[in-house]
Amino acid sequence: MSDRILSRNRSRVIVSLDFPDAKQAVTLCEKLDSSACKLKIGKELFTREGPVLVEQLIAKGFDIFLDLKYHDIPNTVASACRAAADLGVWMLNVHASGGRAMMEAAREAIEQSANSPLLIGVTVLTSLSKEDLGELDINKPVDQQVSLLANLAKRSGLDGVVCSAMEASRLSKELGKEFCLVTPGIRPANTSNDDQKRIMTPTDAINAGSHYLVIGRPITRADDPFAVLDKINSEINSIN
Ligand code: C5P
Repeated sequence: MSDRILSRNRSRVIVSLDFPDAKQAVTLCEKLDSSACKLKIGKELFTREGPVLVEQLIAKGFDIFLDLKYHDIPNTVASACRAAADLGVWMLNVHASGGRAMMEAAREAIEQSANSPLLIGVTVLTSLSKEDLGELDINKPVDQQVSLLANLAKRSGLDGVVCSAMEASRLSKELGKEFCLVTPGIRPANTSNDDQKRIMTPTDAINAGSHYLVIGRPITRADDPFAVLDKINSEINSIN
């Protein structure tokens, strides 16, 4: 992996802060080590708590993936991406279906910031079935649509895409090992699947070509989140 993709702390685990408010998120973060993971802040937490929480966690040393999945006209997305970059986030994302001009504008905007976060595309939401795509008059198989959007993201200057670990091996072959693959749906062996249907263990996901693993409940709901994270880090560090 290139240094740009690998970043400051070398952990490949992104802990998903799926909490309704800052108090619960900060309580969890106090049990984590900022050199042992990164953090993902999504729409609920950001909408409730805003940039203040992002700044607070960055000040504690955490790399932040701001998962707001921007999708709008190029000028609006570019301005939002610039604002996120100026906030100091480590990674942010946009919908690849917003098109080439939107993604290129986002890329250009974050290059103008003193910080240069990784810019990641969202391809086909995993909640969408073939039938759902059909209603949008997208009639190719889901995996082909994922490949099409991931290729467009790469050609538009994005650093990588969010994808299922099940797609990582194929996308890694199609787009090259330097194209960053960020994969949710990860479950350590012998833990609950929760509501995830297609899961992979951390080791299998890294072996399939994932660069970063988004992991929520197995860590956030553990009695000892630090110990679970430590175990996952040891497991994946022993692969390289
Ligand atoms: O708790 P869990 O590990 O299932 O959390 C996974 C995180 O990744 C959640 O924030 C979820 O919304 C997100 N995610 C996902 N599947 C996708 C895209 C994002 O699980 N396809």
